[in-house]
Amino acid sequence: MKERLENLLKNAKLDIDQTSEEVDMNLVKSKYMGKNSEFTSIMKEMGSLSSEEKKSIGLLTNEFRTSFTEYFENKLNKIKADALNKRLESERIDISLPGKGVKTGSLHPLTHIRTTLEDLFVSMGYDVVEGPQVETDDNCFEKLNIPKDHPARDMQDTFYITDEMLLRSQTSSVQVRTMLANKEKTSIKMVCPGKVYRRDDDDATHSHQFMQMEGLVVDKNISLADLKGTLLEMAHALLGENTNIRFRPSYFGFTEPSYEVDVSCFKCGGKGCPLCKNIGWIEILGSGMVHPNVLRMCGYDPEIYTGFAFGVGIERLAMFKYGITDLRNFYTNDVRFLDNFNRKDVK
Ligand code: DAH
Repeated sequence: MKERLENLLKNAKLDIDQTSEEVDMNLVKSKYMGKNSEFTSIMKEMGSLSSEEKKSIGLLTNEFRTSFTEYFENKLNKIKADALNKRLESERIDISLPGKGVKTGSLHPLTHIRTTLEDLFVSMGYDVVEGPQVETDDNCFEKLNIPKDHPARDMQDTFYITDEMLLRSQTSSVQVRTMLANKEKTSIKMVCPGKVYRRDDDDATHSHQFMQMEGLVVDKNISLADLKGTLLEMAHALLGENTNIRFRPSYFGFTEPSYEVDVSCFKCGGKGCPLCKNIGWIEILGSGMVHPNVLRMCGYDPEIYTGFAFGVGIERLAMFKYGITDLRNFYTNDVRFLDNFNRKDVK
């Protein structure tokens, strides 16, 4: 029996060594310890032994049980530990990876430009005012010295609602409103950002709706030098300190003299590049000294008051500043486009 038990333990250890799965370990256990195992039959056979033999074989069976159990449990623990390690490895979370982050909204590029301009002009003592988009012909044209039969009306193809009401084609209408609203006829310093509408077919550089910002200063002794200084300040704030400006004579009914204003190309510094079409200059706005007729029609005595005005296209500025080639991008709300402005360094 001693020999049988020794062989049994040897075989059991071999079987245990060759087993690598937890389920198979159960089979090994029942093979060596189960009801039909040789060990159980040895235990049964012990009944027929003398008490002397019973004692010594009893010790041996105990020894077998202890050794088997110890060897078995060791292996089982190792199998379980290996399985756990494998699982931990496969389910490992790399806590050093960057998180997904919270997606925040961003300001629209046109809003960037508008607020930059507003902040600048507020810092120079201007009021920011608003006017209605549905406007009278009187405010949008007549009082801006552009009578009905004037050829300048052709420059702006306007959406008329009735003979007298229209969708404003320029924020210049707010000049008229501001001067008329000022009953005491005191000095004025205002900017007015807002939407305007024209009967244009939409393409990469035209839109039936876009944004302008109007500026108006009325006071005693306002001269062209004030206009020039103001616009230079604006160009610096928007496009950098090295930006230069130049005035080209132009025509607007409500200013005399009138100028179109160019900025030196901020990409090439004026040397000429694709952005400025090799001219070195980019046109950004219309401006001039407020026409005496306009002052008079709005209740200001042109003998006492002078003023300057300017109107700048916000989309145009944004296109040049951010290198946007298609105007329609501003209005299609494609997040892939808008995401470009979701950066803190966009100014
Ligand atoms: N309203 C003009 C336009 O839409 C732009 C403009 C030109 C505005 C000269 C002004 C100005 O205030 O003085 O084309």
